[in-house]
Amino acid sequence: MKNRMKHSTFAPGGQLVMRVADALRQMMIRENPLEKILKYLRNQAGNKKERAKSFMYFMQVIKHYNLLDALVRHVTRIKEISFHSNEIAWFVCLVLIFHVKQEAISSLHDALVKRRSVDHEVPQMTLDLLDEIFPVTPSWQYIHELILSVNLKTFLVAFPHPDSFALQFAHPTFFIDKMLQLVSEKRLIRLMQEHLEDRRFFIHARDATSLKELIAWLNVKNFTYQPDRDIPRLLQVLNEPGWKQAIASHPLNSCGKIALVDKASVMVVEMLDPRAGDTILDLCAAPFMKTSISFWHMGQHGRIIANDVNSSRIQAALDGMATIPRHSIHWLNSDARCMSSFYRGGEPDKILLDVPCTGSGSFMIHPRLKWVQSSRFLQQNVVLQQSILADVIKTCKENHWKETKILYANCSYYADEGEGVMDKIMPSIELIDLHDYQINQTRGLRVSSGWKGFKCSSKVARTFPDLHDGCQAFFMALFKVPVETP
Ligand SMILES: C[S@@+](CC[C@H](N)C(=O)[O-])C[C@H]1O[C@@H](n2cnc3c(N)ncnc32)[C@H](O)[C@@H]1O
Repeated sequence: MKNRMKHSTFAPGGQLVMRVADALRQMMIRENPLEKILKYLRNQAGNKKERAKSFMYFMQVIKHYNLLDALVRHVTRIKEISFHSNEIAWFVCLVLIFHVKQEAISSLHDALVKRRSVDHEVPQMTLDLLDEIFPVTPSWQYIHELILSVNLKTFLVAFPHPDSFALQFAHPTFFIDKMLQLVSEKRLIRLMQEHLEDRRFFIHARDATSLKELIAWLNVKNFTYQPDRDIPRLLQVLNEPGWKQAIASHPLNSCGKIALVDKASVMVVEMLDPRAGDTILDLCAAPFMKTSISFWHMGQHGRIIANDVNSSRIQAALDGMATIPRHSIHWLNSDARCMSSFYRGGEPDKILLDVPCTGSGSFMIHPRLKWVQSSRFLQQNVVLQQSILADVIKTCKENHWKETKILYANCSYYADEGEGVMDKIMPSIELIDLHDYQINQTRGLRVSSGWKGFKCSSKVARTFPDLHDGCQAFFMALFKVPVETP
């Protein structure tokens, strides 16, 4: 037992969430959990459906990490229990798992706000896990009883605003503070609820025949779905345990006829508007979701150059990718901040800059990102985004690429990573109005304008989960670089 503790998987604090998330990814993608806890789950949860259940079970822990963590700390303080640091990590992890019971409640928020009854029966999986990890430590039983006796409402009242708000809706205070500068408290609550609920997911079909096949299969399986209002061949599917996995493992997916996507990613590609004959340079491309969708638009009639700085992300994505024949794309592995030094392909028609960001718009899909939000992380991303843009603009100028359209996008709510970055480069670019009838006429996409108060606000576009069918929050700006005639 002592050895096991020494090699404990989870470091204390925010790191815990990242590790759980990584281990989860391993479990879902490679079916080869690296960590002990997930090995255990794999053995217990042998088939795909059961693994999907385990996945959702852990996702709830990650989603509600701050609330659960605060509860555990509170209880351990009352009980004056202290653990060896590794043990705490395990313990926290276990209680979190223990407390959020996927079968019983969809979220703690439901229990709190909607006053749904919470079934306190401990799932067998958790009991088995606890027995294995803590066979000789009865402390968890105390903790369990104590946690169950805590009244969440009274517990939260003890925290000042906005901490109580952050705990109640399981979002970091940094995010809440930033968002309250942009939206009302009522809207923010709506957005945070969207992040917690994750009620639907999207499937995109490559062509009309694939869509027909997909619909026939969904009907046989009794899946609840509806066609998307904005995008042809996109379906919204109700998110039920195991459904996403069933679709991911379906032959239509493994042979690249359909793809599980986010609606906002499809909208980004619609704004890029890839056409037959285009040369498209996708500079931050892994894991190639938008590259794949662009490929579907253009087929073999065009050229796509896909680049990413991170070789392991490229490899991992290529290993699992069925949506594009590998030989159809030119692959590059370089730093987009030095585009001028590695790109030798002639004038591209379009450049996609789906830049790295804080991911604050993707909490629904990547809840672990909630727990790394900070002003330092935001600033690091802004600096990176500005450097990538600066080099792309410089390259366009040096090569006299005056017709190249550049789409800058990221999945962040923060104006710092969107409107702020665009306003800074406004003197060197010609911003194209994404709401212009000519630009948007065939697609008729319903998108919102940028946050108010910036020079670029009316021409850039945003998507929001509460306004656009539960998709990720994305920022988009399209521009050209005016070039002096030599
Ligand atoms: C938001 S993700 C891109 C998602 C992708 N476009 C898709 O649709 O699947 C951002 C990507 O930028 C890459 N990245 C980060 N810094 C970079 C840089 N300096 N140059 C090129 N790529 C970079 C990351 O490795 C990451 O894969």
